[in-house]
Amino acid sequence: MQKLTLKKAILGIFVAINAGLALYYIFVLAPQQRRILMPPPSASSASETPGSPDPDSIRETIASEVGAYLSSQLQSRDAKALEVPEAMERIWPDLYNVFKKYQEPQNYKLGTEEEQLIYDYLLGDASRAESTFKQLSRTLCFECMDRVWFKCKATADGISCPPDVICPVSGQPYQASITELSCPFHGQILTFPDRTPRPSLPELYPQLCMGYFTHNRTHRLDEAILRDPIASAKPGETVLDVGSGVGCYVWAMREAVGETGCVIANDVDTTVLDFIKFVAEKRGFTNVQTVHASYDYPNIDIKSVDRVYIIDVLNVMIGMEIKNNLPPSEQADSYMQKLVQAIRPKGKLVIIDFPPEGDRPHIPIDQAISFCQKYNMKLQGQRLLTLDQGTMYVLTFSADQP
Ligand SMILES: C[S@@+](CC[C@H](N)C(=O)[O-])C[C@H]1O[C@@H](n2cnc3c(N)ncnc32)[C@H](O)[C@@H]1O
Ligand SMILES: [Zn+2]
Repeated sequence: MQKLTLKKAILGIFVAINAGLALYYIFVLAPQQRRILMPPPSASSASETPGSPDPDSIRETIASEVGAYLSSQLQSRDAKALEVPEAMERIWPDLYNVFKKYQEPQNYKLGTEEEQLIYDYLLGDASRAESTFKQLSRTLCFECMDRVWFKCKATADGISCPPDVICPVSGQPYQASITELSCPFHGQILTFPDRTPRPSLPELYPQLCMGYFTHNRTHRLDEAILRDPIASAKPGETVLDVGSGVGCYVWAMREAVGETGCVIANDVDTTVLDFIKFVAEKRGFTNVQTVHASYDYPNIDIKSVDRVYIIDVLNVMIGMEIKNNLPPSEQADSYMQKLVQAIRPKGKLVIIDFPPEGDRPHIPIDQAISFCQKYNMKLQGQRLLTLDQGTMYVLTFSADQP
């Protein structure tokens, strides 16, 4: 009986050891081997293969393919024939066709006038193409630095970042110091802890990359700009588009005010204004002007405009403060005071923005209304526009000054 129990115990230990080894293999060794044996995910298969959804590594792979392409364009004057990587479509879908045309000018036709304008502006001659490739390479590198920043940790000795993070264009590692992360190749810096980029990136290329100047985006607000009885611009008006970006709504505004009216696009970023000037010239519009604003000063004469549009900009100006229950910054306050002074008696202010969703610092309608009321704006009308993706609110205020 004792012998039997001993045998059972030995058998039990044997089974337990084997089971332990098997589990160790299944959960620890095998996955490690799989990681070693598996090739890095390719840009096209990575997102589709179930079980390999590490979005960061997919983005790194895409960035390195596009980085290699941009780097080849920068190195060789004869790099036109090089394949535009499919990965380009994943990060900058609106530029993809434009680059395909650059690669195969004879065979590749652009679909819309907007695409043609972007092509002419970015790649229309050798010096434009060179500065575009430089700018895009900085933009891509900056996006990677921004992702790396989230993986860095503050330690007693300074900032510690993962060791293998490299610039996707030059292949050189980023450098981390106590206060900043930098790319030695592009000479750009991201500071800790506030994440301010230096030199600050012009927004043009990101905005064109994000598809800001495309047919769909331009036309989805036509309802508010052209056809709304209260919010739309009227023939002969002088209209100001605050924070116009690349100007995707400037052209509908220009259509609404007609030949006798005028559209002024202002922005803090001169590169987006440069694109608007280029498009206005191509379209032969002499009544579209651009004005360089600063964060505390819209740079518009007193009582000189009939209608002001602020489209997808209020959230940039005061969104973080509203989200954190803080008062708007002094800059934003000074900007608004001067902006309101620029509106003629009985002129209008139209705010078009997204209601809050997720973490983005968008402003609830009631807070946008009470913000404008502080500057003596009287609410005249509000409506919601249903767009392909989500909703935007349209708030029209009357300046109603004596
Ligand atoms: C999210 S984009 C929106 C662009 C455009 N309104 C649109 O909807 O396509 C925000 C724009 O506002 C500009 N901006 C931010 N603060 C500004 C300010 N105080 N004055 C003028 N432009 C500003 C930025 O440079 C950027 O072009
Ligand atoms: Zn770089």
